[in-house]
Amino acid sequence: MKRPSPVQLVCVTVLSAASCFAQSGAVSPADLKAAEKPSSDSTWWKHAVVYEIYPRSFQDSNGDGVGDLNGITQRLDYLKDLGVDAIWIAPMYPSPQVDFGYDISDYENVDPQYGTLADMDRLIAEAKKRNIRVCLDMVLNHTSDKHAWFQQSASSRTDPKHDWYVWNEGKLATGPGATPYEKRFAHDGKVPINDWESGFGGSAWQWTPATEQFYYHKFYREQPDLNWRNPAVEKAMFASMQFWLDRGVAGFRLDAIPTLFEDPQLRDEPEAGGVNAQGDPNLKDVYTSNLPEVHGVIRRMRTMVSKYPGDRVLIGETYLPNTLELDKWYGSADKNELQLPMDMLVGFQGNHAKLDATKLRQYLVEVETQVHGSQPLLVFDNHDNVRSHDRYGDGEHDAAIDRLIAALLLTSRATALMYYGEELGMPTTIPTRVEDVKDPIGITGWPKEKGRDGERTPMQWDATTPQAGFSTNAKTWLPVPASYATINVKAEQSDPQSLLNWHKKLISMRRSLPALHDGGLVMVDTDNPDVLSFVRTAPAGAKPVLVCLNMSASPKTLHLDLSAAAVKGVEIRTLLTNDATLTPVHSVKDVTMPAYGSYIGELQ
Ligand code: GLC
Repeated sequence: MKRPSPVQLVCVTVLSAASCFAQSGAVSPADLKAAEKPSSDSTWWKHAVVYEIYPRSFQDSNGDGVGDLNGITQRLDYLKDLGVDAIWIAPMYPSPQVDFGYDISDYENVDPQYGTLADMDRLIAEAKKRNIRVCLDMVLNHTSDKHAWFQQSASSRTDPKHDWYVWNEGKLATGPGATPYEKRFAHDGKVPINDWESGFGGSAWQWTPATEQFYYHKFYREQPDLNWRNPAVEKAMFASMQFWLDRGVAGFRLDAIPTLFEDPQLRDEPEAGGVNAQGDPNLKDVYTSNLPEVHGVIRRMRTMVSKYPGDRVLIGETYLPNTLELDKWYGSADKNELQLPMDMLVGFQGNHAKLDATKLRQYLVEVETQVHGSQPLLVFDNHDNVRSHDRYGDGEHDAAIDRLIAALLLTSRATALMYYGEELGMPTTIPTRVEDVKDPIGITGWPKEKGRDGERTPMQWDATTPQAGFSTNAKTWLPVPASYATINVKAEQSDPQSLLNWHKKLISMRRSLPALHDGGLVMVDTDNPDVLSFVRTAPAGAKPVLVCLNMSASPKTLHLDLSAAAVKGVEIRTLLTNDATLTPVHSVKDVTMPAYGSYIGELQ
């Protein structure tokens, strides 16, 4: 990754990817066996491809240069053709847009720049006609500071809503406990009570003269944290979720969900050494993230959501230190929390991580075996991180690497989460001048932290206009990258070898082949440091599928032994490969993988 993302910082300050790895538990042979079995569970989200849409950037229908809900509706046929089962729309609620929608001022409406409630109803109905479910983003940790709740809360210490947020009087700036860092945030002779930092830079405590207190904000100061120790907050938030469930949404992606609770003793976070891109000390984040109290809320939420018909789903934005922590988010053996907490270990291994077959094999085996048989959810791209194309690309084999990541995402047993433009290989386009930056952290952090605009540029539909079919307005909210001339939906639709068609083939195979749809997963050739290979075992009467992914820049000859997957024969039929030299392969004893090559074949 070219730069640290603030949201990853929240994870990375907990533990580095390397130490996450070291902390993971060992996998026993019995665990491995359990993952081998095919399953015939047809629950939709267990097989789904979920597609994240950043609504500002997908399709502008009214020419204001900003994407909107009607734009998404216009493009549903494209999504159907791609093969997605559900979309997750990043926040489209009324918002001052400080954090582009993640600062919500009304949970039960649509921001006028994105449309109306009627537009949302129409989008849900039109999507349903195409068998596409609509999931929304639910931001529970914080609201906008312009939300009526916060306005009331901040008006006085005696307001009935005061306790809906996290307030503290701070300590005397002249007192013995005040550190030089805390003194930077002094107001009226007071400094914040502890060293807690906003993930977006500076102290997480903001002084409010009307109450003579600081309020806590994990993210921007315009995003005050709700006080989840107050039951009224849970009640109000669940009611908002029900508002949308009643309108037919298929579920929610829960934003920053591990950060709901803070340490009641307000203890200082331990320092992790060094400073981050915003110039703040790196902290360990043990008192402001992943506190055990959150699980009670999630269990009650699951009970609430489960009362609705149609297998509504709860997806979590769960940056966690290791798979054992991830298991808790499923509810461990009880499986009564989130159906799909995101596994961020596989797809986001830190800013400079390159593809590493050994690490990926370990993480995949863990999520297959250490989550009590729950369903893994893999993701390589989102609106907070440099796109995988740039993180994992080496400048020489980018096309092959894009295909390899797609193959991994779409052929493992996991539910797959994609991000708009990933299917095209849209590159990250980071602003080159600070005056062009829209994401506030890119302004305060410039030039070390250039913000997240780069991964949020408009969808590249065609090359007919400089707006790439995204908008009719010459001025789009973020500029359309020059890459639109060749990297766009229209061009890729007509090129059989395009990344878009690669995705379509993978998604269609994942649907139609019993081994990819229902099969178990068995790692093979497990000592190979460069090539990740696994067999998707087959339900009775179907054929197993072998997947081989070369994660190195040089060709590798495989010596495959598939006995771990109970495959006796050696004959294979190529289903899909990015390299023509692999097309004639007919025996697993004769596979030489080109640099970053992907091979998928059906065992005979
Ligand atoms: C999540 C979102 C990110 C947002 C933050 C605060 O990490 O993905 O975009 O800035 O939460 O809501």
